[in-house]
Amino acid sequence: MKIIEIKNLKKTYEDNSVPVHAVNGVDLSIEEGEFTAIVGPSGSGKTTLLNVVGGLDDATEGTVIIDGMEINTLSSRKLTDFRMFNIGFVFQAYNLIPVFTAKENVEFVMHLQGAKKAHREARSTELLKAVGLGEMMDRRPSKLSGGQQQRVAVARALASKPKFVLADEPTANLDSKSTENLLDIMEQLNKNENITFIFSTHDQRVVNKARRVVTLEDGKVKSDEKRE
Ligand SMILES: Nc1ncnc2c1ncn2[C@@H]1O[C@H](COP(=O)(O)OP(=O)(O)OP(=O)(O)O)[C@@H](O)[C@H]1O
Ligand SMILES: [Mg+2]
Repeated sequence: MKIIEIKNLKKTYEDNSVPVHAVNGVDLSIEEGEFTAIVGPSGSGKTTLLNVVGGLDDATEGTVIIDGMEINTLSSRKLTDFRMFNIGFVFQAYNLIPVFTAKENVEFVMHLQGAKKAHREARSTELLKAVGLGEMMDRRPSKLSGGQQQRVAVARALASKPKFVLADEPTANLDSKSTENLLDIMEQLNKNENITFIFSTHDQRVVNKARRVVTLEDGKVKSDEKRE
């Protein structure tokens, strides 16, 4: 089943009234259960594409259809709800809440979704253990390293059982051991819970794990390679 359909997507920024075509006509379909890497040189449009697909930024032209729903037609309130119930984000700019502990950060979305306390506790504990932070659940983000914060963000993204996860360079701040752990967790969730993953990366080790690699260049899809 198609979970995401991107049609002739364009995103143009204005830079001192010079147009920058960050995404310049992308067509892409993502099937449920995919584990897809978006690669390409710096400035090729990876982050912009993920932002628009996740509804964090508007498209200039074209459509994004998620699970049959054309997201650019939703009101901003509906879009916020839609994001909350369908998409997990692991974005560097998508910060943790500083006054919350790691555990509270992970529970927050479940709280908004109306999940019961016992369920929230069990799921957040399970996920934080899975990302290797079982001993640090009660620390605030300022007492965690960048890589540890990133792992809290992954746990948070997964807490609400999203249909898919968008991750912008999820391993960028991680050492090689943590990168491996995080990839294992992502792969397991992909296999066991059938959560679709789309992640941008510059890291060859992460690319090697992907089962589909989409290469962007100048805001366009340059190649799209499926592996078995
Ligand atoms: N808010 C913005 N205003 C103007 N130009 C922008 C803005 N955001 C991105 N751009 C430009 O759009 C293009 C694509 O940027 P984007 O961040 O999507 O690239 P990227 O592939 O994620 O790069 P990197 O690998 O360095 O993260 C770049 O030329 C960038 O300078
Ligand atoms: Mg980027």
